[in-house]
Amino acid sequence: MNNELKFYNEIKNWDFSKIKYTEESLTNWDIYALLNEKATKNSYILDLGTGGGEKLLENFPEVKKIVGTDLSPEMIKTAKINLEKSKRKNIEFRVMDNLNMNVEDDSFDIVVARHTCINAKQIYKCLKKGGILLLRGVDKLDCFELKKMYGKGQAYNDIKPISQIDYENILDVGFKNVELVPIHIREYYKTKNDFIALLLKTPILQDFSEISTAGNLNEKLDFSIIDNYINSHKTDKGILLIRRYYGIVANK
Ligand SMILES: C[S@@+](CC[C@H](N)C(=O)[O-])C[C@H]1O[C@@H](n2cnc3c(N)ncnc32)[C@H](O)[C@@H]1O
Repeated sequence: MNNELKFYNEIKNWDFSKIKYTEESLTNWDIYALLNEKATKNSYILDLGTGGGEKLLENFPEVKKIVGTDLSPEMIKTAKINLEKSKRKNIEFRVMDNLNMNVEDDSFDIVVARHTCINAKQIYKCLKKGGILLLRGVDKLDCFELKKMYGKGQAYNDIKPISQIDYENILDVGFKNVELVPIHIREYYKTKNDFIALLLKTPILQDFSEISTAGNLNEKLDFSIIDNYINSHKTDKGILLIRRYYGIVANK
């Protein structure tokens, strides 16, 4: 089992409701606003790397069919429980690897990939002609000051930012009208515990290529660095963390 799969299998859900924070967006690109604008009641939508289906169940519109997939069987188990609780219809969750997709060609109107890895060619194949890809990713500069203090973290050592790699790959496989948009968000964590809870729950300080950090981040968190970071990022609104994402819209 690879380190990333181990990490997500242990986490089992993508529910942040217990962590207290507020956010201010400096940009207005919103993947769910776009999804709701572009979907019709007849749409077939695929959500790649759906986690526990939390975002899908809350933000996706009512359409003909939604398929949510994830590599982690534990995430899909959670997604199925969340689906039952939600009472929503026309939704199916199943295990699938984004890098070895097992879906019919030309079968989806919209593919959503939010904070997960993709294979542009396989997404292109499964979209109908005129179909849309909506992607939001975590960029190298996300939480960069914190990652710099640790000297490691998600995409910290990437030579080329993942936004550029995705953008080029999406163009290369034949997508049209490809737009790459930077997303810039300020998050404010209410307490130190909320801030630590975020770091334990997400791969911000993880580098999945380093075997030693997978699954035991708690032991690896250097709390003196966290204290330094918090001391220099305290504001009236909470502990500031600057998030850098990117959005991509593309048409087949
Ligand atoms: C950061 S979570 C994002 C969850 C959800 N899309 C969201 O936006 O809240 C990333 C998810 O991608 C899944 N994932 C990672 N690598 C994958 C792969 N190769 N194929 C499918 N899912 C993958 C993880 O198991 C995890 O559930």
